[in-house]
Amino acid sequence: MEAVGAEGDVAAELRQRLAAGGQDHVLRFWPELDGAARRALAAELCRMDVAEINRFFRRARGDGGGAAAAAAGLDARMEPVPRDVLGSASRDRGLVPRWESRGLAEIAASRVAVLLLAGGQGTRLGVPYPKGMCDVGLPSRKTLFHLQAQRLRRLQQMAEEQHGTPCHIPWYIMTSGRTMESTKEFFQKHRYFGLKKENVIFFQQGMLPALGFDGKILLEEKGKIAMAPDGNGGLYRALGSHGIVDDMERRGVHSVHVYCVDNILVKVADPRFIGFCLEKGADCGAKVVEKTNPTEPVGVVCRVDGVYQVVEYSEISLGTAQRRGPDGRLLFNAGNIANHYFTTAFLKDVVNTYEPQLQHHVAEKKIPHVDITTGQLVQPEKPNGIKMEKFVFDIFQFSKRFVVYEVLREDEFSPLKNADSQNGKDNPTTARHALMSLHHCWVLNAGGHFVDENGTRIPAIPRLKDANDLPIQCEISPLVSYGGEGLEQLVKDREFRTPLIIDEDGIHELVKNGL
Ligand code: UTP
Repeated sequence: MEAVGAEGDVAAELRQRLAAGGQDHVLRFWPELDGAARRALAAELCRMDVAEINRFFRRARGDGGGAAAAAAGLDARMEPVPRDVLGSASRDRGLVPRWESRGLAEIAASRVAVLLLAGGQGTRLGVPYPKGMCDVGLPSRKTLFHLQAQRLRRLQQMAEEQHGTPCHIPWYIMTSGRTMESTKEFFQKHRYFGLKKENVIFFQQGMLPALGFDGKILLEEKGKIAMAPDGNGGLYRALGSHGIVDDMERRGVHSVHVYCVDNILVKVADPRFIGFCLEKGADCGAKVVEKTNPTEPVGVVCRVDGVYQVVEYSEISLGTAQRRGPDGRLLFNAGNIANHYFTTAFLKDVVNTYEPQLQHHVAEKKIPHVDITTGQLVQPEKPNGIKMEKFVFDIFQFSKRFVVYEVLREDEFSPLKNADSQNGKDNPTTARHALMSLHHCWVLNAGGHFVDENGTRIPAIPRLKDANDLPIQCEISPLVSYGGEGLEQLVKDREFRTPLIIDEDGIHELVKNGL
Protein backbone atom coordinates (compact mmCIF):
# COMPACT_ATOMS: atom_id res chain seq x y z
CA MET A 1 0.00 0.00 0.00
CA GLU A 2 2.75 2.32 1.07
CA ALA A 3 4.68 1.62 -2.13
CA VAL A 4 1.63 2.47 -4.19
CA GLY A 5 1.23 5.65 -2.19
CA ALA A 6 4.88 6.63 -2.73
CA GLU A 7 4.56 5.84 -6.42
CA GLY A 8 1.44 7.94 -6.55
CA ASP A 9 3.27 10.84 -4.94
CA VAL A 10 6.09 10.59 -7.44
CA ALA A 11 3.62 10.52 -10.31
CA ALA A 12 1.74 13.52 -8.96
CA GLU A 13 4.92 15.51 -8.52
CA LEU A 14 6.17 14.52 -11.96
CA ARG A 15 2.84 15.34 -13.54
CA GLN A 16 2.92 18.80 -12.00
CA ARG A 17 6.44 19.49 -13.24
CA LEU A 18 5.70 18.13 -16.71
CA ALA A 19 2.42 20.03 -16.93
CA ALA A 20 4.25 23.26 -16.17
CA GLY A 21 6.31 22.61 -19.30
CA GLY A 22 3.37 21.40 -21.39
CA GLN A 23 4.78 17.84 -21.54
CA ASP A 24 2.52 15.86 -19.19
CA HIS A 25 1.16 13.83 -22.11
CA VAL A 26 4.13 11.49 -21.59
CA LEU A 27 2.29 10.14 -18.53
CA ARG A 28 -0.81 9.37 -20.59
CA PHE A 29 -0.27 5.59 -20.32
CA TRP A 30 0.92 5.59 -16.69
CA PRO A 31 -2.17 3.67 -15.44
CA GLU A 32 -1.37 0.84 -17.87
CA LEU A 33 2.26 0.43 -16.77
CA ASP A 34 3.44 -2.17 -14.26
CA GLY A 35 5.61 -1.24 -11.28
CA ALA A 36 8.97 -1.76 -13.00
CA ALA A 37 7.95 0.23 -16.07
CA ARG A 38 6.65 3.06 -13.87
CA ARG A 39 9.90 3.19 -11.92
CA ALA A 40 11.97 3.22 -15.11
CA LEU A 41 9.87 5.99 -16.66
CA ALA A 42 9.89 8.05 -13.47
CA ALA A 43 13.67 7.72 -13.21
CA GLU A 44 14.09 8.85 -16.82
CA LEU A 45 11.77 11.81 -16.33
CA CYS A 46 13.45 12.85 -13.06
CA ARG A 47 16.76 13.17 -14.93
CA MET A 48 15.12 15.33 -17.56
CA ASP A 49 15.06 19.13 -17.37
CA VAL A 50 11.81 19.89 -19.19
CA ALA A 51 12.21 23.65 -19.06
CA GLU A 52 15.66 23.33 -20.63
CA ILE A 53 14.37 21.00 -23.37
CA ASN A 54 11.62 23.48 -24.23
CA ARG A 55 14.19 26.27 -24.31
CA PHE A 56 16.47 24.23 -26.61
CA PHE A 57 13.50 23.61 -28.91
CA ARG A 58 12.59 27.29 -29.11
CA ARG A 59 16.18 28.32 -29.80
CA ALA A 60 16.80 25.52 -32.30
CA ARG A 61 13.63 26.48 -34.12
CA GLY A 62 15.03 30.01 -34.24
CA ASP A 63 12.51 31.77 -31.99
CA GLY A 64 10.44 32.69 -35.00
CA GLY A 65 13.03 33.01 -37.70
CA GLY A 66 16.26 34.08 -35.98
CA ALA A 67 18.24 31.16 -37.38
CA ALA A 68 16.86 31.69 -40.86
CA ALA A 69 17.77 35.36 -40.65
CA ALA A 70 21.30 34.45 -39.56
CA ALA A 71 21.67 32.13 -42.55
CA ALA A 72 20.30 34.67 -45.00
CA GLY A 73 22.79 36.03 -47.47
CA LEU A 74 25.37 33.44 -46.43
CA ASP A 75 26.80 33.18 -49.95
CA ALA A 76 27.77 36.84 -49.99
CA ARG A 77 29.38 36.72 -46.54
CA MET A 78 31.59 33.66 -47.13
CA GLU A 79 35.34 33.87 -47.72
CA PRO A 80 37.68 30.96 -48.42
CA VAL A 81 40.41 29.93 -45.97
CA PRO A 82 43.36 32.33 -46.44
CA ARG A 83 46.67 30.79 -47.46
CA ASP A 84 48.51 31.95 -44.32
CA VAL A 85 46.47 29.67 -42.04
CA LEU A 86 46.54 26.77 -44.47
CA GLY A 87 49.04 23.90 -44.54
CA SER A 88 48.99 21.17 -47.13
CA ALA A 89 50.51 17.71 -46.82
CA SER A 90 51.02 17.64 -50.61
CA ARG A 91 51.63 21.27 -51.59
CA ASP A 92 53.92 22.08 -48.63
CA ARG A 93 55.78 18.79 -48.89
CA GLY A 94 59.11 20.37 -47.91
CA LEU A 95 57.73 21.37 -44.51
CA VAL A 96 56.15 18.05 -43.67
CA PRO A 97 59.26 16.44 -42.09
CA ARG A 98 59.59 19.41 -39.73
CA TRP A 99 55.92 19.19 -38.71
CA GLU A 100 56.24 15.45 -38.24
CA SER A 101 59.25 15.64 -35.98
CA ARG A 102 57.64 18.41 -33.92
CA GLY A 103 54.51 16.28 -33.50
CA LEU A 104 56.48 13.17 -32.59
CA ALA A 105 58.47 15.13 -29.98
CA GLU A 106 55.17 16.26 -28.46
CA ILE A 107 53.88 12.67 -28.43
CA ALA A 108 57.16 11.53 -26.87
CA ALA A 109 56.59 14.06 -24.08
CA SER A 110 53.12 12.53 -23.48
CA ARG A 111 51.49 15.87 -24.25
CA VAL A 112 49.13 14.56 -26.96
CA ALA A 113 45.78 12.80 -26.45
CA VAL A 114 43.20 11.50 -28.88
CA LEU A 115 39.45 11.73 -28.46
CA LEU A 116 37.12 9.45 -30.34
CA LEU A 117 33.54 10.43 -31.12
CA ALA A 118 31.71 7.12 -30.92
CA GLY A 119 28.30 8.06 -29.58
CA GLY A 120 26.40 7.93 -32.87
CA GLN A 121 23.60 5.47 -33.50
CA GLY A 122 24.86 4.39 -36.91
CA THR A 123 21.31 4.12 -38.21
CA ARG A 124 22.34 4.10 -41.88
CA LEU A 125 24.85 1.27 -41.39
CA GLY A 126 22.21 -0.58 -39.42
CA VAL A 127 24.36 -3.00 -37.42
CA PRO A 128 23.07 -3.86 -33.94
CA TYR A 129 26.38 -2.94 -32.25
CA PRO A 130 28.60 0.18 -32.12
CA LYS A 131 30.21 1.08 -35.45
CA GLY A 132 33.75 0.77 -34.08
CA MET A 133 33.13 -2.96 -33.63
CA CYS A 134 32.48 -3.31 -37.34
CA ASP A 135 34.63 -5.73 -39.35
CA VAL A 136 34.55 -4.55 -42.96
CA GLY A 137 36.01 -7.80 -44.29
CA LEU A 138 39.73 -7.01 -44.37
CA PRO A 139 42.00 -10.04 -44.80
CA SER A 140 42.96 -9.68 -41.09
CA ARG A 141 39.28 -9.20 -40.04
CA LYS A 142 40.36 -6.33 -37.80
CA THR A 143 37.64 -3.98 -36.60
CA LEU A 144 37.78 -0.17 -36.73
CA PHE A 145 38.60 0.00 -32.99
CA HIS A 146 41.39 -2.54 -33.49
CA LEU A 147 42.99 -0.55 -36.33
CA GLN A 148 42.86 2.69 -34.34
CA ALA A 149 44.36 1.06 -31.24
CA GLN A 150 47.22 -0.42 -33.23
CA ARG A 151 47.96 2.93 -34.90
CA LEU A 152 48.27 4.46 -31.43
CA ARG A 153 50.61 1.70 -30.32
CA ARG A 154 52.80 2.15 -33.36
CA LEU A 155 52.98 5.93 -32.87
CA GLN A 156 53.97 5.50 -29.23
CA GLN A 157 56.67 3.12 -30.33
CA MET A 158 57.96 5.52 -33.03
CA ALA A 159 58.05 8.42 -30.56
CA GLU A 160 59.84 6.30 -27.99
CA GLU A 161 62.41 5.09 -30.50
CA GLN A 162 63.17 8.62 -31.67
CA HIS A 163 63.28 10.24 -28.25
CA GLY A 164 64.34 7.41 -25.97
CA THR A 165 61.65 8.03 -23.37
CA PRO A 166 58.55 5.94 -22.64
CA CYS A 167 55.35 7.79 -23.53
CA HIS A 168 51.63 7.24 -23.84
CA ILE A 169 48.77 8.74 -25.78
CA PRO A 170 45.61 8.79 -23.65
CA TRP A 171 42.57 7.68 -25.66
CA TYR A 172 39.30 9.30 -24.60
CA ILE A 173 36.29 7.50 -26.03
CA MET A 174 32.91 9.22 -26.04
CA THR A 175 29.98 6.83 -26.19
CA SER A 176 26.28 7.34 -25.64
CA GLY A 177 23.73 5.62 -23.46
CA ARG A 178 23.13 3.27 -26.36
CA THR A 179 26.76 2.33 -27.03
CA MET A 180 28.60 2.53 -23.67
CA GLU A 181 28.23 -1.00 -22.30
CA SER A 182 28.92 -2.88 -25.51
CA THR A 183 31.91 -0.66 -26.32
CA LYS A 184 33.46 -1.21 -22.89
CA GLU A 185 32.84 -4.95 -23.05
CA PHE A 186 34.46 -5.12 -26.47
CA PHE A 187 37.60 -3.40 -25.22
CA GLN A 188 37.75 -5.63 -22.15
CA LYS A 189 37.29 -8.75 -24.27
CA HIS A 190 40.17 -7.68 -26.52
CA ARG A 191 42.32 -6.60 -23.58
CA TYR A 192 42.40 -3.04 -24.85
CA PHE A 193 44.19 -4.23 -28.00
CA GLY A 194 47.49 -4.12 -26.15
CA LEU A 195 47.09 -0.58 -24.80
CA LYS A 196 47.26 0.16 -21.10
CA LYS A 197 43.77 0.06 -19.60
CA GLU A 198 44.37 3.25 -17.58
CA ASN A 199 45.05 5.15 -20.81
CA VAL A 200 41.69 4.26 -22.36
CA ILE A 201 39.05 6.49 -20.80
CA PHE A 202 35.36 6.03 -21.61
CA PHE A 203 32.76 8.70 -20.97
CA GLN A 204 29.17 9.16 -21.98
CA GLN A 205 27.53 11.98 -23.89
CA GLY A 206 24.08 13.29 -23.11
CA MET A 207 20.78 12.28 -24.64
CA LEU A 208 17.76 14.40 -25.53
CA PRO A 209 14.20 13.38 -26.27
CA ALA A 210 12.98 13.39 -29.86
CA LEU A 211 10.18 15.90 -30.35
CA GLY A 212 7.22 16.29 -32.65
CA PHE A 213 7.19 19.37 -34.89
CA ASP A 214 5.09 21.00 -32.18
CA GLY A 215 7.82 20.51 -29.56
CA LYS A 216 6.03 17.68 -27.75
CA ILE A 217 8.21 14.85 -26.42
CA LEU A 218 7.65 11.58 -28.32
CA LEU A 219 7.22 8.19 -26.67
CA GLU A 220 9.09 5.19 -28.06
CA GLU A 221 6.93 2.85 -25.99
CA LYS A 222 4.06 3.57 -23.64
CA GLY A 223 6.50 3.77 -20.76
CA LYS A 224 9.61 4.93 -22.59
CA ILE A 225 10.70 8.29 -23.98
CA ALA A 226 12.21 8.32 -27.51
CA MET A 227 15.75 9.41 -26.61
CA ALA A 228 18.66 10.15 -28.97
CA PRO A 229 22.26 11.27 -28.38
CA ASP A 230 22.64 15.06 -28.51
CA GLY A 231 24.99 15.10 -31.52
CA ASN A 232 28.77 14.85 -31.67
CA GLY A 233 28.91 18.42 -30.35
CA GLY A 234 27.38 16.95 -27.19
CA LEU A 235 31.08 16.37 -26.57
CA TYR A 236 31.57 19.74 -24.92
CA ARG A 237 28.90 19.35 -22.30
CA ALA A 238 30.07 15.81 -21.61
CA LEU A 239 33.69 16.99 -21.25
CA GLY A 240 32.57 19.23 -18.42
CA SER A 241 30.14 16.91 -16.69
CA HIS A 242 32.62 14.02 -16.61
CA GLY A 243 35.69 16.03 -15.61
CA ILE A 244 37.53 15.06 -18.80
CA VAL A 245 39.35 18.38 -19.25
CA ASP A 246 40.55 18.12 -15.65
CA ASP A 247 41.84 14.65 -16.43
CA MET A 248 43.68 15.99 -19.48
CA GLU A 249 45.27 18.71 -17.37
CA ARG A 250 46.29 16.21 -14.69
CA ARG A 251 48.02 14.11 -17.33
CA GLY A 252 49.81 17.14 -18.78
CA VAL A 253 48.03 16.94 -22.15
CA HIS A 254 48.45 20.03 -24.32
CA SER A 255 47.06 18.91 -27.71
CA VAL A 256 43.96 16.84 -28.43
CA HIS A 257 43.13 15.16 -31.73
CA VAL A 258 39.36 14.64 -32.06
CA TYR A 259 38.05 12.28 -34.75
CA CYS A 260 35.10 10.12 -35.82
CA VAL A 261 34.92 6.39 -35.37
CA ASP A 262 33.84 5.66 -38.94
CA ASN A 263 36.87 6.76 -40.98
CA ILE A 264 38.85 3.58 -41.67
CA LEU A 265 41.92 5.57 -42.81
CA VAL A 266 42.04 7.94 -39.83
CA LYS A 267 45.56 8.88 -38.77
CA VAL A 268 45.00 9.05 -35.04
CA ALA A 269 47.23 11.65 -33.36
CA ASP A 270 48.77 12.38 -36.77
CA PRO A 271 52.15 13.87 -35.79
CA ARG A 272 52.23 16.00 -38.97
CA PHE A 273 48.88 17.59 -38.19
CA ILE A 274 49.80 18.05 -34.52
CA GLY A 275 53.20 19.51 -35.45
CA PHE A 276 51.67 21.88 -38.01
CA CYS A 277 49.13 23.16 -35.45
CA LEU A 278 51.87 23.63 -32.86
CA GLU A 279 54.13 25.50 -35.30
CA LYS A 280 51.25 27.82 -36.13
CA GLY A 281 50.43 28.37 -32.45
CA ALA A 282 46.87 27.26 -33.14
CA ASP A 283 44.24 26.70 -30.46
CA CYS A 284 41.92 24.98 -32.93
CA GLY A 285 42.47 23.30 -36.28
CA ALA A 286 40.59 21.35 -38.91
CA LYS A 287 41.97 18.68 -41.17
CA VAL A 288 40.27 18.85 -44.56
CA VAL A 289 40.32 17.13 -47.95
CA GLU A 290 39.89 18.99 -51.20
CA LYS A 291 36.32 19.16 -52.40
CA THR A 292 36.55 18.78 -56.17
CA ASN A 293 32.95 18.27 -57.18
CA PRO A 294 30.73 21.32 -56.55
CA THR A 295 27.67 19.20 -55.82
CA GLU A 296 29.34 16.81 -53.39
CA PRO A 297 27.26 17.06 -50.21
CA VAL A 298 30.14 17.88 -47.89
CA GLY A 299 30.47 20.85 -45.53
CA VAL A 300 33.28 23.30 -46.26
CA VAL A 301 35.46 25.13 -43.77
CA CYS A 302 35.43 28.87 -44.51
CA ARG A 303 35.01 32.26 -42.90
CA VAL A 304 31.63 33.94 -42.55
CA ASP A 305 31.79 37.57 -41.45
CA GLY A 306 35.43 36.89 -40.55
CA VAL A 307 34.63 33.97 -38.26
CA TYR A 308 35.49 30.34 -39.06
CA GLN A 309 32.73 27.84 -39.46
CA VAL A 310 31.58 24.87 -41.52
CA VAL A 311 29.00 25.74 -44.16
CA GLU A 312 26.92 22.84 -45.39
CA TYR A 313 26.37 22.30 -49.10
CA SER A 314 22.62 22.67 -48.58
CA GLU A 315 23.05 26.18 -47.12
CA ILE A 316 24.53 27.80 -50.24
CA SER A 317 23.57 28.25 -53.87
CA LEU A 318 24.94 26.07 -56.65
CA GLY A 319 26.60 29.17 -58.09
CA THR A 320 28.62 29.67 -54.91
CA ALA A 321 29.51 25.99 -54.72
CA GLN A 322 30.76 26.17 -58.33
CA ARG A 323 32.97 29.26 -57.91
CA ARG A 324 36.63 28.68 -58.76
CA GLY A 325 39.80 30.47 -57.69
CA PRO A 326 42.67 31.61 -59.96
CA ASP A 327 44.32 28.16 -59.59
CA GLY A 328 41.23 26.49 -61.09
CA ARG A 329 40.31 24.75 -57.83
CA LEU A 330 36.91 25.29 -56.26
CA LEU A 331 37.01 28.48 -54.20
CA PHE A 332 35.30 26.75 -51.26
CA ASN A 333 37.19 23.50 -51.37
CA ALA A 334 38.15 22.80 -47.73
CA GLY A 335 35.98 19.70 -47.26
CA ASN A 336 35.35 19.00 -43.59
CA ILE A 337 36.16 15.44 -42.46
CA ALA A 338 35.45 15.92 -38.73
CA ASN A 339 39.08 15.59 -37.80
CA HIS A 340 40.13 18.34 -35.43
CA TYR A 341 42.91 19.71 -33.28
CA PHE A 342 42.24 21.53 -30.01
CA THR A 343 44.48 22.65 -27.22
CA THR A 344 43.38 21.60 -23.76
CA ALA A 345 43.23 25.28 -22.79
CA PHE A 346 40.81 25.99 -25.63
CA LEU A 347 38.61 23.05 -24.64
CA LYS A 348 38.62 24.34 -21.08
CA ASP A 349 37.38 27.76 -22.26
CA VAL A 350 34.70 26.07 -24.36
CA VAL A 351 33.49 23.96 -21.44
CA ASN A 352 33.54 26.80 -18.92
CA THR A 353 32.36 29.69 -21.05
CA TYR A 354 31.14 29.01 -24.57
CA GLU A 355 29.22 25.71 -24.49
CA PRO A 356 25.91 27.18 -23.28
CA GLN A 357 25.97 29.60 -26.23
CA LEU A 358 25.93 26.73 -28.73
CA GLN A 359 22.60 26.24 -30.37
CA HIS A 360 21.18 22.85 -31.36
CA HIS A 361 20.71 22.03 -35.02
CA VAL A 362 17.43 20.49 -36.01
CA ALA A 363 17.34 17.25 -37.96
CA GLU A 364 13.93 16.30 -39.27
CA LYS A 365 13.56 12.51 -39.00
CA LYS A 366 11.14 9.66 -39.28
CA ILE A 367 10.70 8.79 -35.61
CA PRO A 368 8.75 5.66 -34.65
CA HIS A 369 6.49 6.60 -31.74
CA VAL A 370 3.37 5.73 -29.80
CA ASP A 371 0.33 7.74 -30.88
CA ILE A 372 -0.76 9.58 -27.78
CA THR A 373 -4.49 9.24 -28.47
CA THR A 374 -4.72 5.69 -29.77
CA GLY A 375 -1.73 4.10 -28.02
CA GLN A 376 -0.73 2.50 -31.33
CA LEU A 377 2.90 2.32 -32.48
CA VAL A 378 3.38 4.48 -35.59
CA GLN A 379 6.17 3.83 -38.14
CA PRO A 380 6.14 7.08 -40.11
CA GLU A 381 6.84 7.12 -43.83
CA LYS A 382 7.90 10.74 -43.88
CA PRO A 383 9.59 12.91 -41.25
CA ASN A 384 7.28 13.47 -38.32
CA GLY A 385 9.55 15.06 -35.78
CA ILE A 386 12.97 16.35 -34.90
CA LYS A 387 16.16 15.38 -33.15
CA MET A 388 18.24 18.18 -31.68
CA GLU A 389 21.99 17.95 -32.11
CA LYS A 390 25.08 20.05 -31.59
CA PHE A 391 28.02 19.56 -33.93
CA VAL A 392 31.65 19.15 -33.00
CA PHE A 393 32.69 22.01 -35.31
CA ASP A 394 30.27 24.51 -33.73
CA ILE A 395 33.12 25.82 -31.57
CA PHE A 396 35.37 27.01 -34.42
CA GLN A 397 33.80 30.45 -34.00
CA PHE A 398 35.47 30.83 -30.59
CA SER A 399 38.99 30.10 -31.77
CA LYS A 400 41.55 32.89 -31.51
CA ARG A 401 44.05 31.16 -33.79
CA PHE A 402 42.41 28.80 -36.26
CA VAL A 403 44.30 26.76 -38.85
CA VAL A 404 43.43 24.35 -41.63
CA TYR A 405 45.48 21.36 -42.74
CA GLU A 406 44.75 19.77 -46.10
CA VAL A 407 45.48 16.12 -46.81
CA LEU A 408 44.81 13.75 -49.70
CA ARG A 409 41.47 12.04 -49.51
CA GLU A 410 42.83 8.70 -50.72
CA ASP A 411 45.43 8.75 -47.95
CA GLU A 412 43.22 9.69 -45.04
CA PHE A 413 39.48 9.63 -45.56
CA SER A 414 37.03 6.84 -46.26
CA PRO A 415 34.01 6.93 -43.94
CA LEU A 416 31.74 4.00 -43.17
CA LYS A 417 28.19 5.31 -43.24
CA ASN A 418 25.98 2.91 -45.21
CA ALA A 419 25.34 -0.81 -45.45
CA ASP A 420 26.62 -2.58 -48.56
CA SER A 421 23.03 -3.24 -49.55
CA GLN A 422 22.03 0.45 -49.55
CA ASN A 423 24.13 2.15 -52.18
CA GLY A 424 27.61 2.22 -53.61
CA LYS A 425 29.04 4.92 -51.37
CA ASP A 426 30.77 4.97 -47.99
CA ASN A 427 30.01 1.35 -47.14
CA PRO A 428 32.06 -1.64 -45.86
CA THR A 429 33.24 -2.46 -49.40
CA THR A 430 34.45 1.07 -50.19
CA ALA A 431 36.14 1.28 -46.76
CA ARG A 432 37.92 -2.05 -47.26
CA HIS A 433 39.00 -1.12 -50.78
CA ALA A 434 40.28 2.30 -49.66
CA LEU A 435 42.52 0.73 -47.03
CA MET A 436 43.86 -1.98 -49.33
CA SER A 437 44.48 0.53 -52.15
CA LEU A 438 46.47 2.72 -49.81
CA HIS A 439 48.54 -0.20 -48.56
CA HIS A 440 49.13 -1.33 -52.13
CA CYS A 441 50.60 2.14 -52.80
CA TRP A 442 52.81 1.91 -49.74
CA VAL A 443 54.32 -1.36 -51.00
CA LEU A 444 54.92 0.12 -54.47
CA ASN A 445 56.47 3.27 -52.99
CA ALA A 446 58.80 1.12 -50.89
CA GLY A 447 60.00 -0.69 -54.02
CA GLY A 448 57.92 -3.87 -53.81
CA HIS A 449 56.11 -5.54 -56.75
CA PHE A 450 53.03 -7.65 -57.20
CA VAL A 451 52.75 -10.63 -59.51
CA ASP A 452 49.67 -12.46 -60.78
CA GLU A 453 49.00 -16.18 -60.41
CA ASN A 454 51.30 -16.89 -63.40
CA GLY A 455 54.16 -14.99 -61.81
CA THR A 456 53.85 -12.07 -64.26
CA ARG A 457 54.41 -8.66 -62.77
CA ILE A 458 51.31 -6.53 -62.38
CA PRO A 459 52.15 -3.04 -63.70
CA ALA A 460 53.14 -0.78 -60.79
CA ILE A 461 50.27 1.60 -61.19
CA PRO A 462 48.97 2.75 -57.85
CA ARG A 463 45.34 1.92 -57.13
CA LEU A 464 45.27 -0.51 -60.04
CA LYS A 465 42.23 -2.76 -60.05
CA ASP A 466 42.77 -6.44 -60.76
CA ALA A 467 40.91 -8.52 -63.32
CA ASN A 468 37.93 -8.96 -61.01
CA ASP A 469 37.70 -5.21 -60.58
CA LEU A 470 38.92 -5.54 -57.03
CA PRO A 471 41.85 -3.61 -55.62
CA ILE A 472 45.09 -5.47 -55.07
CA GLN A 473 44.49 -7.26 -51.79
CA CYS A 474 47.17 -6.01 -49.52
CA GLU A 475 46.95 -5.17 -45.84
CA ILE A 476 49.73 -3.90 -43.62
CA SER A 477 49.32 -4.02 -39.86
CA PRO A 478 49.49 -0.59 -38.22
CA LEU A 479 51.98 -2.18 -35.83
CA VAL A 480 54.36 -2.47 -38.79
CA SER A 481 53.70 0.89 -40.44
CA TYR A 482 51.65 3.91 -39.35
CA GLY A 483 51.79 5.88 -42.58
CA GLY A 484 53.86 3.89 -45.07
CA GLU A 485 57.19 4.26 -43.25
CA GLY A 486 59.68 1.49 -42.58
CA LEU A 487 58.61 -0.87 -45.37
CA GLU A 488 61.71 -0.79 -47.61
CA GLN A 489 63.61 -3.38 -45.59
CA LEU A 490 60.63 -5.70 -45.90
CA VAL A 491 59.52 -5.29 -49.48
CA LYS A 492 62.17 -3.58 -51.64
CA ASP A 493 62.83 -5.50 -54.88
CA ARG A 494 60.65 -8.39 -53.75
CA GLU A 495 57.66 -9.84 -55.58
CA PHE A 496 54.40 -10.71 -53.86
CA ARG A 497 51.26 -12.61 -54.67
CA THR A 498 47.97 -11.47 -53.24
CA PRO A 499 46.24 -11.53 -50.83
CA LEU A 500 49.23 -10.17 -48.93
CA ILE A 501 49.31 -9.42 -45.22
CA ILE A 502 52.32 -7.82 -43.59
CA ASP A 503 52.11 -7.89 -39.83
CA GLU A 504 54.34 -8.09 -36.77
CA ASP A 505 54.86 -11.83 -37.39
CA GLY A 506 56.13 -11.29 -40.91
CA ILE A 507 54.94 -11.44 -44.50
CA HIS A 508 52.06 -13.73 -45.39
CA GLU A 509 50.97 -14.46 -48.94
CA LEU A 510 47.57 -16.03 -48.45
CA VAL A 511 45.81 -18.42 -50.73
CA LYS A 512 43.09 -16.56 -52.63
CA ASN A 513 40.04 -16.63 -50.40
CA GLY A 514 37.57 -14.78 -52.48
CA LEU A 515 37.49 -11.65 -50.34
P1 UTP B 1 27.19 10.62 -38.09
O1 UTP B 1 26.63 11.98 -38.15
O2 UTP B 1 27.66 10.00 -39.34
O3 UTP B 1 26.13 9.71 -37.36
O4 UTP B 1 28.36 10.64 -37.02
P2 UTP B 1 26.15 8.16 -37.06
O5 UTP B 1 25.42 7.97 -35.78
O6 UTP B 1 27.51 7.54 -37.10
O7 UTP B 1 25.31 7.54 -38.25
P3 UTP B 1 23.78 7.77 -38.68
O8 UTP B 1 23.65 9.21 -39.07
O9 UTP B 1 22.90 7.39 -37.51
O10 UTP B 1 23.64 6.81 -39.81
C1 UTP B 1 29.65 11.12 -37.27
C2 UTP B 1 30.48 10.79 -36.06
O11 UTP B 1 29.97 11.46 -34.91
C3 UTP B 1 29.71 10.52 -33.89
C4 UTP B 1 29.53 9.19 -34.57
O12 UTP B 1 29.76 8.13 -33.68
C5 UTP B 1 30.54 9.30 -35.69
O13 UTP B 1 31.84 9.03 -35.22
N1 UTP B 1 28.51 10.93 -33.15
C6 UTP B 1 27.36 11.24 -33.81
C7 UTP B 1 28.57 11.02 -31.79
O14 UTP B 1 29.63 10.74 -31.17
N2 UTP B 1 27.46 11.41 -31.11
C8 UTP B 1 26.29 11.72 -31.73
O15 UTP B 1 25.30 12.08 -31.04
C9 UTP B 1 26.25 11.64 -33.13
